Amino acid sequence: MRSPIPDYLTEVLDTCTADVSGTVADYIPELAAADPDRFAVALVTADGTVYSAGDTEHAFSIQSISKPFVYGMALDRLGFDAVLEKIDVEPSGEAFNEISLEHDSGRPLNPMINAGALTAHALLSDDASPHARGEQVRSLFSDLAGRDLSIDERVAASELTTTYRNIAIANLLRSYEVFFDDPEDVVAGYVRQCSVSVTVTDLAMIAGTLANGGVQPSTGARVFSRPTVRQVLSVMATCGMYDAAGDWLTTVGIPAKSGVSGGIIGILPGQLGIAVFSPRLDRHGNSARGVVAFERLSHDMNLHLM
Ligand code: DON
Repeated sequence: MRSPIPDYLTEVLDTCTADVSGTVADYIPELAAADPDRFAVALVTADGTVYSAGDTEHAFSIQSISKPFVYGMALDRLGFDAVLEKIDVEPSGEAFNEISLEHDSGRPLNPMINAGALTAHALLSDDASPHARGEQVRSLFSDLAGRDLSIDERVAASELTTTYRNIAIANLLRSYEVFFDDPEDVVAGYVRQCSVSVTVTDLAMIAGTLANGGVQPSTGARVFSRPTVRQVLSVMATCGMYDAAGDWLTTVGIPAKSGVSGGIIGILPGQLGIAVFSPRLDRHGNSARGVVAFERLSHDMNLHLM
């Protein structure tokens, strides 16, 4: 029997296409070249069934959607206490690239903003080489997606030419001794992390692994421990949408994370991983159509957790 879900997803895309608000991120030259009209959606159930519609084959860089997963990897590697000592779990209420450090210690407020994400990246390994850490992250996302992913070298090279603000934040973190690695190495590794190339279906699979308690829905491999999944989802719920986190939790009502290339993932624990891709961003740096599509999906499928 044919499932009506792809037809429903196509209809969601058709209605949300009317939204042409926002602009494509242009502070990374390679992202400025994105086709603003691309639009795709995918759902993965906790048992690995995939439903999708739109530009599902189109590849784009993962950007900040990488942050919760690298945080998860640091938690599984070092344990909660060691990671909490370096990165707090409080919403900053500020944009993703604000300084947002505790005044006395320099500890980043949470792992979803750049300061916290750079720190989580530095906690991945003792070897600070950007290529070693980049490979660690590429391999993590391949396990989460259930297929071999690659790093988009053009995007990585492009971001490296304009990443002055991240270099400044990393230097501040080094001055507070939050980490001891060379700040330029940490930023170069983090930029490789942000440049992992994915499709919307990959993102839904990656989200589906969190929905499935840390076990990849199609391969059955455990990628994260259950306590780590709980911690990651909690931080996504409070901090994943930056200074729009309150709006998002009241309207859509599920843990989520966005990236400047135009992706958003959402997780309904125990049930669904959801991903939407559309490159135009609102003033918070979240995909404008992506937010509208998630609001519609949440309403129609009664996803709101509260
Ligand atoms: O740090 C940066 O500027 C990017 N590579 C990632 C930022 C990002 O995706 C923010 N999310 N909306």
